[in-house]
Amino acid sequence: MTHSASVITIDGPAGVGKTTIARRLSETLGISYLDTGAMFRTLALNLGLAAEEMSEEAIKSVCSHYRFQLEGHGITTQLFVNGKLVSSEIRTEEVGMLASRLARLPAIRAVLADIQRSMAAATPLVAEGRDMGTVIFPNARFKFFLDASPEIRALRRMRDAENHDQPTDLAKLTEQIRLRDVQDRTRAIAPLKAASDAICIDTSDKDISEVLGLMLRHIDASGGLFPNR
Ligand code: DC
Repeated sequence: MTHSASVITIDGPAGVGKTTIARRLSETLGISYLDTGAMFRTLALNLGLAAEEMSEEAIKSVCSHYRFQLEGHGITTQLFVNGKLVSSEIRTEEVGMLASRLARLPAIRAVLADIQRSMAAATPLVAEGRDMGTVIFPNARFKFFLDASPEIRALRRMRDAENHDQPTDLAKLTEQIRLRDVQDRTRAIAPLKAASDAICIDTSDKDISEVLGLMLRHIDASGGLFPNR
């Protein structure tokens, strides 16, 4: 068995609902989920744009001080960095954009790739991000790629923000999502794309339960995540 036999990967662009789906899927399966965007965001918030001027060795050395740890299962899964829950400060679109910029740096990707793989070696995971099925876990047992138009993703983000009493400008959100798409899809290393063996789901006209249902039916029809149990 390879280290990624018990991994389900979910990749897709910003705002497509990967984290929500990963949480729900992990809850149903009784395993943990890993929000790899949160790892990039945490490093981005701490290192800032200065990382773009640093050598690979310097980045690796600074990053070695950040210890990520997963605890719990399903919707109660929590990601800790240096013993503290990752901060809600990482959740702004500005930090998302900064994370997307720093995610182009090979040293940052290499550091996080090692951590992500060792987490999956320790426990079965639903891992969500941009390169989970293509680069990090090419042997994952199940791979999904979620997509929806930038307009729909921006609309969902806006409704989310409104539910948290944070009114947002739809045109600005759509523009930010488009920009991040370009940056994530066109970078040289580990660009956002569907793995050739991923199940692609256009979520534009589907709600969360429908997407989850499609995934679970596919997993069940292929023998489940743990076929030998
Ligand atoms: O999923 P997210 O919006 O939280 O991710 C923030 C940024 O981090 C995203 O725009 C690109 C980068 N990222 C990445 O390059 N690879 C991943 N596996 C996850 C995120």
